[in-house]
Amino acid sequence: MRYAFHVMRYAIKFMPKKQTRELTDVLTTSARIYQPSKEVLDRATVKDVEKVRKAAEKDPLKFWEEAANDLSWFTKWKKVFGGRKPFYQWFIGAKTNLAYNALDRHAEGENRDKTAIISEDETGRTRRYTYFELYKEVNKLVNALKAAKVKKGDRVAIYMPNIPEIAMAMLACAKIGAMHSVVYAGYSAAALADRINDAKAKVLFTADGSWRRGKAVDLKTIADEALKLTKTVKKVIVTKNNNQNVSLTAGRDVWFHDFIKGQSEKAKCAQMDAEDPAFVLYTSGTTSKPKGVIHVHGGYQVGVLRTIKWVFDLKGDEIFWCTADPGWITGHSYIIYGPLLAGITTLQYEGVPDMPEPDRIWQIVEKYNVNVLYTAPTLIRAMAKYGDEWPDKHAMPSLRLLGSVGEPINPEAWLWYHKHIGKGRLPIMDTWWQTETGMHMITPLPATPLKPGSATKPFPGIIADVVDKNGKRVPTGKGGFLVIRNQWPSMIRTIFNNPDRYVKTYWKEIKGVYFTGDVAFKDKDGYFWIQGRTDDVLKIAGHRIGTAEVESGFVAHKAVAECGVIGVPDPVKGEVIKAFVILKQGFEGSDVLKQELVACVRKSIGPVAVIKDVAFTDKLPKTRSGKIMRRVLKAQELGLDVGDTSALVS
Ligand code: WTA
Repeated sequence: MRYAFHVMRYAIKFMPKKQTRELTDVLTTSARIYQPSKEVLDRATVKDVEKVRKAAEKDPLKFWEEAANDLSWFTKWKKVFGGRKPFYQWFIGAKTNLAYNALDRHAEGENRDKTAIISEDETGRTRRYTYFELYKEVNKLVNALKAAKVKKGDRVAIYMPNIPEIAMAMLACAKIGAMHSVVYAGYSAAALADRINDAKAKVLFTADGSWRRGKAVDLKTIADEALKLTKTVKKVIVTKNNNQNVSLTAGRDVWFHDFIKGQSEKAKCAQMDAEDPAFVLYTSGTTSKPKGVIHVHGGYQVGVLRTIKWVFDLKGDEIFWCTADPGWITGHSYIIYGPLLAGITTLQYEGVPDMPEPDRIWQIVEKYNVNVLYTAPTLIRAMAKYGDEWPDKHAMPSLRLLGSVGEPINPEAWLWYHKHIGKGRLPIMDTWWQTETGMHMITPLPATPLKPGSATKPFPGIIADVVDKNGKRVPTGKGGFLVIRNQWPSMIRTIFNNPDRYVKTYWKEIKGVYFTGDVAFKDKDGYFWIQGRTDDVLKIAGHRIGTAEVESGFVAHKAVAECGVIGVPDPVKGEVIKAFVILKQGFEGSDVLKQELVACVRKSIGPVAVIKDVAFTDKLPKTRSGKIMRRVLKAQELGLDVGDTSALVS
């Protein structure tokens, strides 16, 4: 518990002065409340948020049953909710398919000729697919995968850039009932191999490469290296994306376009049980082994559709742009499945936000008349650093709502986003959620009065609380563990092949509630203020990485005896990595060795792990059982009170 307070104190201590003042102002007086404009209120689907929240709290099953009626079901459920704690089940007895709802029903209905996906890459190449065109491509892929003997329950790994083919691969898997396992393309060969091996994936989708800051990233080469460390993959399907020279292994590798050539444009959709797994998505936890989070066909689509429609108030022909990557849950739920379930247009941008110039994002918003922009605090802070003139050149009249996700948004970044992108007019939906929750959990709706830096209140149907380690609610304004008291349809069902870890991680830490791993406090108006993680999970530029994974990357180097890794505050990335390394006898610390170690971690995890500093030391703070006390390292590093050190061996 004490740790929670420390985290909060660090957060405030390391903010720039101006920001601290704003935060204090917001916290103490709640002076800055942004009321929704008449324009926002008039169009809002949910006008009286409190009333809807109260009704949903009283009867959450009725609320979710109503939400489920926005989707198509081959067979209706016998029971909305049940299962054996904590292996909960939703829409029991129902038959459905996530891809049917995201694609088939639109392609076969009135959205047939509406644009489903717009894509643009860093070089400016643009593509568009209507729902019907996407449907035909997906059907060809379904037939080709079936011919390659992919069937219900099989795992298919996907290691691709943010391009339409990744959506096709995901949808084709879902349509067959095979589980996709998307691995972020910023992960290394070793990290990809780990995930392929854990899932025992049969097929791998990848691409020749991708553009990043004008340079080609050789995805196929990385995939080939990963495949040397795996045995289960029998087929590799390669999208020709940036015309790189790659070698295809005969009998195993095939170009995407050749794979689907000659296949029928019609395909049957598998009727899946609502509780059948739709996908596995690996995420970081407290050990070096990532967790394969399982989401299912039935409940996941209900949670994602209801949140995207209500939080972003999407209607008709709108264009939605989520700047995340499909390799993370944000991309699964709000680039691919959410917008398609809602039958609107989703935008995929494959590139960095400041190429060729720092207004690329705002240019894209204007070029495609984006209506809702959903991005991360790290991107907002990076863009703010370039100066106001870049967004100020762009009027962006099509925008009507903004969103934020992935890490706490500091009030200063919130205000900049509101002023320069929202032109002082647009509300910001600061959505708190996790890979495990599948959907937004604590978030405003457009009609919610906003406080910069607060994710406001739980989504209707969700009961969140801030408690101590015994599960007792802490008083208003006091920090504690963020927990969820009830269940929701898009919740994690289990960890792939590791149900015990599922029970232990989420349901045993604090009795009777879902443990989020975050610290937060509630203010006097019941608004939640999320402060960050309590566990050993880092958020580097919004990307989730485990300290233990990074440490095992260091220890893989022959010179390293032991290593402790912490996150240190960074003004743009939120957090970056600092490592404390004990060298083996016979090795000397030097700048060259530091670089080697950084390269070694890059090899084991990928460029996603940003290391700011490596310090050589001859001692690490440890418990009696030999566990490195990262919080002591962190307190020492930041010059703060170390807190309870009774477990420390001096
Ligand atoms: C953090 C990303 C504050 C939080 C969707 C959570 C946030 C972790 C917010 C999950 C937010 C996400 N405000 N913190 N709006 N959104 N987080 O699984 O620490 O990659 O536990 O899911 O991100 O990260 P994940």
